[in-house]
Amino acid sequence: MKFGHFDDVNREYVIETPRTPYPWINYLGNEKFFSLISNTAGGYAFYTDARLRRLTRYRYNDVPLDNNGRYFFINDNGTVWNPGWKPMRVELDSYECRHGFGYSKIASSKNGVKADILYMIPNGDNAEIQKVTLTNTTSQKKDIALHSYIEWCLYNAHDDNTNFQRNFSIGEVEVLGSTIYHKTEYRERRNHFAFYHVNSKIDGFETDRETFLGLHNNYDHPDAVFADKSTNFVADGWSPVASHRINVSLNAGESKTFIFVLGYIENDNDKKWAAQAEQGLLQTNSAMRVINKDKAIALQNKYDTVEKVEKAFNTLKDFWTDMVGKYTLKTGDEKLDRMAVWNQYQCVVTYNFARSASYFESGIGRGIGFRDTSQDMLGVVHSMPQSRVRERLFDVASTQFEDGSAYHQFQPLTKRGNADVGSNFNDDPLWLILGVGGYIKETGDEQFLKEMVPFDNNEKNKATLYEHLKRSFRYITTHIGPHGLPLIGRADWNDCLNLNCFSTDPNDSFQTSTNKDGKNAESVMIAQMFVYVAPDYAAMCRMMGDEAEAKFAEEQAAQMAEQICKTGWDGDWYIRAYDDFGKKIGSKECEDGKIFIETQGFGSMAQIGADKGYPAKALDSVEKHLDTKYGIVILDPPYKDYHIELGEVSSYPPGYKENAGIFCHNNPWVIIGEVKTGRSAKAWEHYKKIAPSFLEDISEIHRLEPYVYAQMIAGKAARRHGEAKNSWLTGTAAWNFVALSQWICGVRPEYEGLRIEPRLPAHIKNAEITRKYRGVTYKIDITNNNPEGKVVLTSDSASVTGTLALAKDGTKEVSIKAVIG
Ligand code: GLC
Ligand code: GLC
Repeated sequence: MKFGHFDDVNREYVIETPRTPYPWINYLGNEKFFSLISNTAGGYAFYTDARLRRLTRYRYNDVPLDNNGRYFFINDNGTVWNPGWKPMRVELDSYECRHGFGYSKIASSKNGVKADILYMIPNGDNAEIQKVTLTNTTSQKKDIALHSYIEWCLYNAHDDNTNFQRNFSIGEVEVLGSTIYHKTEYRERRNHFAFYHVNSKIDGFETDRETFLGLHNNYDHPDAVFADKSTNFVADGWSPVASHRINVSLNAGESKTFIFVLGYIENDNDKKWAAQAEQGLLQTNSAMRVINKDKAIALQNKYDTVEKVEKAFNTLKDFWTDMVGKYTLKTGDEKLDRMAVWNQYQCVVTYNFARSASYFESGIGRGIGFRDTSQDMLGVVHSMPQSRVRERLFDVASTQFEDGSAYHQFQPLTKRGNADVGSNFNDDPLWLILGVGGYIKETGDEQFLKEMVPFDNNEKNKATLYEHLKRSFRYITTHIGPHGLPLIGRADWNDCLNLNCFSTDPNDSFQTSTNKDGKNAESVMIAQMFVYVAPDYAAMCRMMGDEAEAKFAEEQAAQMAEQICKTGWDGDWYIRAYDDFGKKIGSKECEDGKIFIETQGFGSMAQIGADKGYPAKALDSVEKHLDTKYGIVILDPPYKDYHIELGEVSSYPPGYKENAGIFCHNNPWVIIGEVKTGRSAKAWEHYKKIAPSFLEDISEIHRLEPYVYAQMIAGKAARRHGEAKNSWLTGTAAWNFVALSQWICGVRPEYEGLRIEPRLPAHIKNAEITRKYRGVTYKIDITNNNPEGKVVLTSDSASVTGTLALAKDGTKEVSIKAVIG
C-alpha cells in the first residue's frame, strides 16, 4: 500500500495522508542551522549541535507519537484546525505534504480556508522561514485567527529533559513588536539567543506554555486558541513558548501571506546588550538588561517579503540541483533513477548529522562517530564542496591518539573526542584510511597528506596526515592475536560484538565495559578491512615517495590475506571472529550465529582467497543462509540465549538489530562483492530488495519513508519481518550509493582517473550517466548488450586506457561511449 507518490520533476515525495504508518520526516538546513520536520509539522530546530544548542523542544517517545513542532492553529469561528493535522487532528478537507530537498510544504484546507505553508532554511542564514498563505475559497468573507506556536528548549537538550529543579525557574523572554525573543540564560555565559518573528502586525501573543495550553490540557486543546484572545503574558520561568495571534480577514477568493522567522543569533560579548530598552518592549523584570537585537532585526528584514523568500527558495532549489546534479543517472527504470537522486540527498543529510538527530536518535546521545563519518564521506565526496569534506576528515584525524587508535566519537560543537565512550574499537583506525583514500581519489588533493594534524586535539603534538595514516595501519599490525588476526578491542564495525565485555551487570554499557585484557579475541572483519584498504594505503605511501612503506603495506596485506585463508575460512564462508577462549564465531561449529554477513561482504570485496574460489562460495552461502525477501540478515541462526563471551549481539531478540535483523548497512558490501566476483545479476537482486523506492508499494509493512534507507529491517526470525526502524541516519546511505554508482553503474574515481565498468542489470539496455569529476563533466552513454561482457570505451575528448578514462588537458566536458558485451 502507498501513502503518497514521487514527484520526479520537482524532486519531492508527496504524502497524501497525515496518517502515515510512522512520522515521515525531512531535514531542513545544510550549514549550521537545522530542523527536523515531519509530515505533520512535528520536529525541532537546533544550531550546529542537537544536544548542546537545541532551540525548540521536542517530546520523545510520547503519546500520541511525534509531539511538538512548529504548529499553526486556525480558529475559524470556533472550528480550530491545524494545516499539518497535528496536534488537533481535526479531519481536513484536503491534505498534502511535499518533502523536497531542504524544504517541506504542507497544503491543506478546511471549511473553505486553504493553508499553504513552505518551511525552509535558506543557505547562509541561521533561520527557519515559514511562509504561510491563507486563502478564502468560499464566496463569503471570512474572519479567522491564525496562531503560531513553538516551544523553546533551554539550549542544552539533555539538561532540558532532566534538570527541572533549575529549568522551571530560568525561562526568560522579551517581546518587541511582532517578535518574541528567547532570552533564557543570555545573562551569564551565553551570548546567543533565538527569536520567533512574523512580518506583520500581531493582535496578541503568548510566551508561556501553561497560559497558552491551560495546565491540564493536551496540545489538542490550547486555551489561548479557543478563547480567541491573547493574554499577552510575558513568561516568568516554567516553559517559555512563542505564539503569535493574527486576526485575518479574507474576502471571497482572497489570499494573505505571512512570513514567520525562527532565528538564532550570536552577539559578541561586548555587544550583548542594547544601550537602552526599545519603546514598547515587554519583559518580565524591568531591572534586567535588554538584548542587543541589531542582528536579529537585520535577519528579520532579510525575509520580510514574499519576493525575498521566493528568491531564497529558488536559490535553495538551485543549490540542491547542483549538489545532486554532479551525478545523474538515466536508465528508464523509474524506481532506480529516483534512487540515484534521493540516495544522494540522504547521503548529504547523513553526512551533516552523523548519527545525532533523527526520529530514532535523540540528538542527545551521540556525537559524531569516527567510523561512521569516515564512511558517510564516501557518499558525499563527489557532491559536497571539497573544503567541507577535507575539514571533516581533518577533525576526525585530530581525535586520533598517537598510537593510531582513536576516540570512537567526538562532539560537533567542540570537535573534541568523547571521553565517556572512549577508544579501543579496533576497526576505527582503518576507516580513516578508507575515508582519506576516497577523498583523494575524488579530488586528487594529494597535498592533504602533508597537512599537519594534531593528535587528541593537542596543538602541541602534531604530525602530517600521512603519519596519522601510518599510525592507523601500524595499529593493526601491532595488535595481532593468537590466530594471527587483528585483536577486536571493544568491537569492530559491529558495535554489538563485544568480545571483551563479559558483563553480567545490567548497568554496564556493552560498549564501554571491558572485563578482559583484550589479548585474545580477534576479528576476521578487521583482517579483511586491512586487506581491503592496504592498496589505498600503499598508493598514498607512494604519493609521499615512501616506497619502503608501500612495500611493507603490500607484504603485510598479502600475509594477512593468507592468514585469513588459514584461520578465517570455515569451508563455505568466512568466519566472523574468535572469542576470548579462542572459539570460532560465525562457523558451522557454532550452535547459533553460524554465519555472519560482514565477513562475506568484506571478504568478497577484498577478494580474499579468490584463487580458491572463496568469494563466490561465501556469496553462495549468503544466498543460502542469510537472504530473505526483504534483504539479507546480518547473521543466522539468531542467538536465543545471552552469551557472556559475545556481548550485546546476543542480547537482542531474534530478528532485530545486530541479532539477525536485516542490517541494511552491510547489504551493499555483498552487492559490491557480487559485482567484483562477476555476478552482477545477483548484485541487482540484492540491491532492489532494500532500495526504498522499490518498497513504496509495501509501505504498510515497511512503515518508514519510501524515499530513504533505514538502518534496520526486521529479519526473518522476527514476527514483524519486513518492518523497518531507524530511518535516515545510517551508513546504509553512503554504501548503497557507492554500490549503485561505483559498482552497478560502474563509474568510480581512482587515483589516476575515472574507471568506467558498468554492470547494469540485463533489463537496462541503454543508460546515460553524467559525472562531475575533478572539474570535468563526463557524459557516459552506455549500451548494455551483455552485463558481464567486456567493456569497450571510446571517446574523442578523453584518453582511454582499458576502462580508465581521463579528460584530455583543458577539456571541461567529455563524452564517452561504453559498450558492454
Ligand atoms: C550503528 C553504528 C555503527 C555500527 C553499526 C553496527 O549503525 O552507528 O557505527 O557500525 O551500528 O553495529
Ligand atoms: C549501535 C548499534 C546498536 C547498539 C548501539 C549501542 O548503534 O547499532 O545496536 O545498541 O550501537 O551503542
